[in-house]
Amino acid sequence: MASNPPRLKTAITADERLKNLKNTFETKYGESPLFYACAPGRVNLIGEHIDYCGYSVLPMAIEQNILAAVSVNNSGTIQLANTNPLYKDFTVSCSEDIAIDRDNPKWFYYFLCGVKGIQETFGIPRLAGMSCVVDGTIPPSSGLSSSSALVCCSGLLTMEANQKLLSKVALAEICAKCERYIGTEGGGMDQSISFLAERGTAKLIEFQPLRATDVKLPDGAVFVISNCCVEMNKAATSHYNIRVVECRIATKMLAKARGLESSRLLKLAQAQRELKASLEEMLTLVDEVLHPEPYSREEICRVLGITSEQFSTDLLSANTQHMMQFWLHQRAKHVYGEAARVLQFKSVCDSEPAESIHLLGELMNQSHASCRDLYECSCPELDQLVDICLKAGAVGSRLTGAGWGGCAVSMVPTEKVESFLQAVRAAYYLPDPRRAALEKQSLFVSKPGGGAAIFLEE
Ligand code: GLA
Repeated sequence: MASNPPRLKTAITADERLKNLKNTFETKYGESPLFYACAPGRVNLIGEHIDYCGYSVLPMAIEQNILAAVSVNNSGTIQLANTNPLYKDFTVSCSEDIAIDRDNPKWFYYFLCGVKGIQETFGIPRLAGMSCVVDGTIPPSSGLSSSSALVCCSGLLTMEANQKLLSKVALAEICAKCERYIGTEGGGMDQSISFLAERGTAKLIEFQPLRATDVKLPDGAVFVISNCCVEMNKAATSHYNIRVVECRIATKMLAKARGLESSRLLKLAQAQRELKASLEEMLTLVDEVLHPEPYSREEICRVLGITSEQFSTDLLSANTQHMMQFWLHQRAKHVYGEAARVLQFKSVCDSEPAESIHLLGELMNQSHASCRDLYECSCPELDQLVDICLKAGAVGSRLTGAGWGGCAVSMVPTEKVESFLQAVRAAYYLPDPRRAALEKQSLFVSKPGGGAAIFLEE
């Protein structure tokens, strides 16, 4: 059923954060907000770097979110401010075309992605003027999806300000698409969970068509998030798009080897579907068809029968044009293996065997090893943190989100949480003054939170 994001009546004075945001807004703009919108960040429990290959993922929303206060007016402009002084004010005219500078990913461009997505969906010639103050509690560049939450929050509030109505699924799809204006070829997990999350449950997110199914996490364990304090900004580097490109090329190489019409196929899941093969069979096929040594452009062009120009325009993105070598075997192995682990994780949660917690922990550990060794999206600090978490009593621990920095998620038996937190604090945070200063926002227990919503003052 297509449902719309909730519109909740709230006593603003009962909520410290809303109350402060309202005050900031009034001081800044000399008027009161008309409404508020929020969109949560997320932690992905399993299924990393496979959404853009067409495979299901298993995230949950976290409590930390992006919250915005909004007024609608006749100023003919969209005025933006952020409660964090690091993020500067920005104003754009409603009669201008919204331009997003990929080479300079500033905070407000994420906001503008959401605005642009709604404007294009409805073909709105001139958007309503609005003033907004944004307040975020998701640590940035930490793999908890602060940027997508900002895009989702902005898409939602632009819809509301322009008196349009969309289902949560439509909003998720629009926001996934419009975030690509920033230049990263994201897969849609972050925006989907931000809109489709429900308090108390993780979700299996399937794509095409987009669908979210409850996954009941076992009693007796909690998920703890820990930030390795190495910042990773997907839009400022090409690591992420390089992996998207390698998966796209691997798809074409597998398709070609099995005589499929490869020009239509872009995702590893499409190759599997066309071949009517199981994930196990795809793993075998990868071993048969792809070699572990890196591929050069020349070799790929030769096998696919394409010119170097076609290779650059059809397969590479703007920020991956410099790439000369491609690790296809390792990337495809990770994707098919990880896709299988997501299904196993879901089925353990559904059938609740006595040893659930250990089975899930083992899947998380396998996922981390695959991200580290095959997908090469970890970093030494994250690997060290994951090891510390396991030694501190986690049954499973893995990097979460895009990787190359950011957070690990660990599954910890409830009775061990306190000693776990202490041990991780002592081994990872306290020895380093910079980490110690960030510890409060870097190490915390997380329960499945709710999805994006609009608030109106009661
Ligand atoms: C980022 C992207 C997601 C997903 C993850 C890796 O968060 O936005 O779409 O690909 O990385 O799993």
